[in-house]
Amino acid sequence: MSANAGGTGEKLLGWYDRHARELPWRVSPSDRARGIAPDPYRVWLSEIMLQQTTVAAVRAYFEKFTSIWPTVHDLAAANEDDLLKAWAGLGYYSRARNLKKCADAIVAEHGGVFPADLEALRALPGIGDYTSAAIASIAFDIPAPVVDGNVERVFSRLHAVEVPLPAAKAIIKSHVSDVLPHSRPGDFAQACMDLGATLCTPKRPSCLHCPVRDDCRALATADPETFPRKAPKKQKPHRRGAAYIIQRNDGSILLEKRSASGLLANMTQVPTTAWNSRTDGETGTNTSPLPGATWTDCGNIQHVFTHFSLTLTVWKLDDAPSALEIGAHQWWSTTDEIGGEALPTVMKKVIACGLPGRDSRGQS
Ligand code: ADE
Repeated sequence: MSANAGGTGEKLLGWYDRHARELPWRVSPSDRARGIAPDPYRVWLSEIMLQQTTVAAVRAYFEKFTSIWPTVHDLAAANEDDLLKAWAGLGYYSRARNLKKCADAIVAEHGGVFPADLEALRALPGIGDYTSAAIASIAFDIPAPVVDGNVERVFSRLHAVEVPLPAAKAIIKSHVSDVLPHSRPGDFAQACMDLGATLCTPKRPSCLHCPVRDDCRALATADPETFPRKAPKKQKPHRRGAAYIIQRNDGSILLEKRSASGLLANMTQVPTTAWNSRTDGETGTNTSPLPGATWTDCGNIQHVFTHFSLTLTVWKLDDAPSALEIGAHQWWSTTDEIGGEALPTVMKKVIACGLPGRDSRGQS
């Protein structure tokens, strides 16, 4: 369907022309109108980074990645450990592993050129329904409904969708398809995202400034803030365990690589016990690498993962014996090196708890 004059699609595009956010991966609507096309590599990279992650958190990572690896060929040539180090702190690390697999596939199977085709994009590693639609529309102006959390909020309010999420997803997608313009579908997708991020916010939406307020059933008939309706969240299970910071005289600490599969695969950590769901799980020093040593109890850290929450008791040992035998998957990381390690946020919290004067960026 085209953006009918005065229709929702046209109003959103007109608003986007005036209010589009300036984002490092974005081609502005005026540049786009002058024929400047977005770089599909930058669109893909930004969309992977933006999954479950805010624009504010992504900006610095996007700048770092595109300066180290400016093209998909550079990323395909990178080694996975360097990629995980650069991704450390952004979370959902399977995204980083799939990033490498996808770059490899683009180079090996598509001659280094992103395919301008929804199905071909969808077949690539780490690219699902949402991401293939986003890349197809933003990079190639292929009309496809792009529905992320922001867009779900905008369209559930526009149509006062009473069905709760996640069941409402299909209904919302069909509402988006109904107003999807054939000209400028990429700008339309980004207009919906920007509206959700800036005016149609989860709390206290700015309905007064909204370009589609006259079309909004939630505003006319109910309280927009109460949309989207949501099925009650299940309580997450809780796990606990202990983490051990073992420090040598020179300030270096013992790190190890996590296993190649499962949660935080191939990322870096200090030695820990298993993360156990038993309330009597091991949180002391009996199962530490040096059970007889004099450990300092540094307190607890909390972290929330997608499927469970975690409390780790942090123990520290200073002046570790220089003869301490370490495993093949372990190494000593100096104060200069620690900032470049592939430490996930949970481990940054552990190190900040045990060594409060020094953060895991290596600064003191
Ligand atoms: N969130 C996800 N993708 C986005 C994009 N392309 N622009 C703004 N916010 C986004």
